[in-house]
Amino acid sequence: MESSNASRRVQALQAQLEPDSNTVCITFPGRNLQYLTGFYEAPSERHFLFFVPAGSAPIALVPELSAADFESAAPWVDDVRTWTDEAGPQDALSAVLEEIDPDRILLDDTMWARFTQDIRTHCPAATYGLASEVLTALRIRKDDTEIAALERAGAAADTAMNAIRSLGSDAIGMTEIELARRIETELVEAGGTGTAFETIVGSGPNGARPHHTSGDRTIRAGEPVVLDFGTRVDGYPSDQTRTIIFDGDPTDRVREVHDVVREAQAAAIDAIEPGVTAASIDRAGREVIEAAGYGDRFIHRTGHGVGLDVHEAPDIVAGNERKLEPGMVFSVEPGIYLPDDFGVRIEDLVVVTDGGAMRLNRTDRGL
Ligand code: CO
Repeated sequence: MESSNASRRVQALQAQLEPDSNTVCITFPGRNLQYLTGFYEAPSERHFLFFVPAGSAPIALVPELSAADFESAAPWVDDVRTWTDEAGPQDALSAVLEEIDPDRILLDDTMWARFTQDIRTHCPAATYGLASEVLTALRIRKDDTEIAALERAGAAADTAMNAIRSLGSDAIGMTEIELARRIETELVEAGGTGTAFETIVGSGPNGARPHHTSGDRTIRAGEPVVLDFGTRVDGYPSDQTRTIIFDGDPTDRVREVHDVVREAQAAAIDAIEPGVTAASIDRAGREVIEAAGYGDRFIHRTGHGVGLDVHEAPDIVAGNERKLEPGMVFSVEPGIYLPDDFGVRIEDLVVVTDGGAMRLNRTDRGL
């Protein structure tokens, strides 16, 4: 990430904090810290905290062994304080908190309890809230750099999906796990880095469980298989689902259900434009499924926002009256799940544009 980009984000965050409020937002390794600084590493047991006070420069408290990586990712952070394993983090932590002396502390939503406990011990009189109170408003609208990365991730997923579909009868007899590994190889070959979430291969009746864990069941002819997978490109994930048949002929019921889901997905995407609510997108797709008599078999929300996190705001769900704005990115993934029989889900990521929506996935949506 360009440093100017990252420091602009910190400034935007500070603008949300109201300068005289004496509030501090504290993030730790994860997607919020990545969003603010460009630095990413998996969270670990060592205290790694990034303090953004409302009215003064940010302070990073970093384990010595991560300092070089942090400083090269975020050279514009002038105040980086390191601590060693020998000395431990507590003295350095209390010094930072005494200096900032906050009245209100917004904690990274996914921060581990061991760190929040320490902060609470040092600042018992402060009031507490979540970083999402201020960060969601920034992260929910993607800038051009973010959209470009999401497009590249979507293209990698499309390339992998086409390769998997073209296996045709070669996929028959493979286990779900074997097919999942094959998908993951294709994603890397298409330019992706790792998986954005656990790869889902749900064959036959397993497709009726939306979050099925791929297992030893073999792919059979004539059976629909739900394929839901994602990778990351430049830190941003893809997330798409297709339900396909590798060989043989589907039953009439499979065809009918598949048509309904595809129609529901198209109706939901057609309804997207700036100013309409997230709930209305859920409604537009759900109505198609209800009209076909499968309303009670569509057992989850229509979609979720996607950014550095695979699941973030906005939820595309009944009751979410948030109005869509250009730059929001989310999944549209209606499904119908018939227990012990089969399931169908079709998912694309979309970007809200000035005039409607742009899909980030373009592969064949058919069976
Ligand atoms: Co999804």
